[in-house]
Amino acid sequence: MSGFLITLEGIEGSGKTTQLDFLTDQLSKFGLPYICSKEPGGTDLGKELRSLLLTPRTSGEKWCLDAELLLFYADRAQHLETVVRPALRSGQIILLDRFEDSTRAYQGIQGVSEKTLDTLRQIVLKDLRPDLTLLFDADPEKMLIRVNSRNREKPDFAETRFDREELCFHRNVRERFLEIASREPERICVIPADESPESIAGNVWSLIAPKLNAAGFLLR
Ligand code: TMP
Repeated sequence: MSGFLITLEGIEGSGKTTQLDFLTDQLSKFGLPYICSKEPGGTDLGKELRSLLLTPRTSGEKWCLDAELLLFYADRAQHLETVVRPALRSGQIILLDRFEDSTRAYQGIQGVSEKTLDTLRQIVLKDLRPDLTLLFDADPEKMLIRVNSRNREKPDFAETRFDREELCFHRNVRERFLEIASREPERICVIPADESPESIAGNVWSLIAPKLNAAGFLLR
């Protein structure tokens, strides 16, 4: 049996990471084989790329858009080759905190063309697509309040580059995510993310369970 790739997407503070914890608890409860990973930073080398991409420089220098895009894709190529494809081949469920839709949303709204994104997809993803994508959708204003309080709780939280971007940026990211979802409704499920984490987790599980069953993962 081949594996099952589930990606989790959404703006900062949309609760992806909390939902990932709920999901791993459920998968463990049913004794299903899974791994959890993320982009950027799902490999040892990728962690260095994550830090290069997201930690603000004291000099104030920022990556130009093409460099940023290629670094996200370098991280993805390494991650697919060494983590994701092997796990899929061995029949595992893979939970991925961000994947290609994040590039399409974040770099897309900054001006990277669909054509360039399609070319990179062809080179790096080839025919790989997530079996299911959960898009956690909520009002950016509320989410930024959550992110800021989270950052305050973590004095060493250095990866705040995107968190500090304007609200308008996050609104655009949200819109782009929703646009992508409307183009691929069979793959991408939009999950309203402003309910309680427990209620969202319930919705997520009732969506995922039948799909896993259909893919041959027995929920005993
Ligand atoms: P995270 O903290 O949710 O892991 O997100 C890392 C940041 O990187 C987040 O602001 C989204 C951004 N990002 C991109 O801009 N492009 C990408 O391709 C990916 C995967 C993330």
